[in-house]
Amino acid sequence: SSDPELPGSGAAPLVIAHRGASDELPEHTLEAYLRAIEDGADGVECDVRLSRDGHLVCVHDRRLNRTSNGRGLVRRRTLAELEQLDFGSWHAAEQPAPVLTLETLLGAVRDAGRPLRLLVETKHPTLGGRLIEPTLAELLRKFALDRPEPGDAVSVTMMSFSPLALQRMRELAPDVPRVFLMDHLPPGVYPPAVLPYGAAAGGPGVSLLRARPAIAERLRRNGNEVYVWTVNDPADVDLCVRLGVRAIITDRPGFVRRHLAGG
Ligand code: G3P
Ligand code: CA
Repeated sequence: SSDPELPGSGAAPLVIAHRGASDELPEHTLEAYLRAIEDGADGVECDVRLSRDGHLVCVHDRRLNRTSNGRGLVRRRTLAELEQLDFGSWHAAEQPAPVLTLETLLGAVRDAGRPLRLLVETKHPTLGGRLIEPTLAELLRKFALDRPEPGDAVSVTMMSFSPLALQRMRELAPDVPRVFLMDHLPPGVYPPAVLPYGAAAGGPGVSLLRARPAIAERLRRNGNEVYVWTVNDPADVDLCVRLGVRAIITDRPGFVRRHLAGG
């Protein structure tokens, strides 16, 4: 059972929509994010990559092939070229959709009319001339989101599997909280008592957490919050509640919200 002495326990976990309501609608499209917000998500998650001309676009894979009608590497296309592609029709929902920029997503989250969290995962810090974190920091400054204040309508958190990316973000926007993502257990004591580069939270994948639930307790004892991905099944939601995790990152925000409410 969850220990009231530990950070993150007591309160119900936040429900964060992974790539939007991506079970129902094509991931990383504006429609998928708006649906997640309608479904009562506390926040949304997105992956970002740089276009050839330096715009942050919300795309998970390196290549265009799976989630659009284009082929080849995202980073080889300008934003104008990406805008010619359809990022929706591949999905069972069969709705055409344009590429989503992080700037558009930030605007949508800001205009949602209620407080929301935005979790931004930077992919591949060494690609694109190492400009991904600087570009993110600049965009957050433009939206005045680089210096969070209590009561802000939008609060942004940066996430990465890469300690290098966390280090860069700490230098560029030290007040933006960071999550260290984990998908495997390296040898030795893990997770470490001090997460890399001042990450405030650890982000284990749910299969890692199932295999080693003690990870959550260790993180919490060390004063870190726990963000778990990608939690789509009721038994995994229940596990997260038992372990006192702070955020459940899910493709099914409406379902998780109802499940947490006992429905
Ligand atoms: O929220 C973290 C999770 O999204 C990491 O994995 O592959 O879905 O980006 P991935
Ligand atoms: Ca992600």
